[in-house]
Amino acid sequence: NWTPANFVQESIAQLKKQIGDRKVIMALSGGVDSTVAATLISKAIGDHLYCLFVDNGVLRKNEYEQVLHTYQQLHLNVVGIDAKEHFYTKLAGKTDPEEKRKIIGNTFIEIFDREAKRMNDIGMLGQGTIYPDVIESVSVHGPSQTIKSHHNVGGLPDYMQLELVEPLRFLFKDEVRKVGIELGIPAELINRHPFPGPGLAIRILGEVTEEKVHLLQQADAIFIDALRNANLYSKVWQAGAILLPVKSVGVMGDERTYEYTLALRAVTSVDGMTADWAHLPYDFLASVSNAIINQVKGINRVVYDISSKPPATIEWE
Ligand code: XMP
Repeated sequence: NWTPANFVQESIAQLKKQIGDRKVIMALSGGVDSTVAATLISKAIGDHLYCLFVDNGVLRKNEYEQVLHTYQQLHLNVVGIDAKEHFYTKLAGKTDPEEKRKIIGNTFIEIFDREAKRMNDIGMLGQGTIYPDVIESVSVHGPSQTIKSHHNVGGLPDYMQLELVEPLRFLFKDEVRKVGIELGIPAELINRHPFPGPGLAIRILGEVTEEKVHLLQQADAIFIDALRNANLYSKVWQAGAILLPVKSVGVMGDERTYEYTLALRAVTSVDGMTADWAHLPYDFLASVSNAIINQVKGINRVVYDISSKPPATIEWE
């Protein structure tokens, strides 16, 4: 019978056999799947696993430092790469949502490729693919070896024909979480809301700039912290803030302001395919709105998104 403990034990034995004394490279995203997969692989082969965690400049506030710290506590052999400026330069002037996604995916591959070349005799590529990804990539992209373009890792250049190591290939999300707990990964990471690979770039409508990222990071952190403090975080499936390219007039003290509008989005869902807007209490929304407008200079208006999916999507871009 399937238990997390049995799975961990069998998986480690199997990974040892599959990998032998080859070296494995893997990109980590800060999400549940890649963290659990990497921890399993590292239990099997130790420092023969090389992990990369890239700061693409569109992560949440303090996320890079916090996640890197967690990886170190998990004894993963991980290198953090601060590529913020590189991403901002590539994104400058770009406003089309799909183009922004492609730029982020391609820039990521560029960096991953550069780092992989620096490492000697890498023989395999680790991935946090889970069963629903396998099904999705078979139906959308053909052979199951195709890396989803939707996925954080993006896809690899053809010449990098590395054999894949995918220890979670036959697991569903809830099983991955159980395995993660069994491996001692902090519950906070295990229970995180999903976060898109292109990060805050697709929550800043229009052009992404460092200043806008900073504004959105502050507002998003206030919203997410408030959800945690009100015990609402685990009651919604995903939440975040969206910075709109709309300025409106407001008043602060005796002064007229002309600043950005922020949208809050929180949804309930089972798998992200359909979603309902979360019916958060008015008092809660009021206090979040006040906190954001008072604390984040540059935002003077907050709205709440009450659209469901379909026909709206969860993300705005
Ligand atoms: P939508 O906006 O399509 O989002 O309703 C459904 C779920 O997918 C996430 N999402 C992405 N995840 N790369 C990702 O890794 C992407 O480009 C991407 N776009 C959307 C979204 O956050 C939600 O959980």
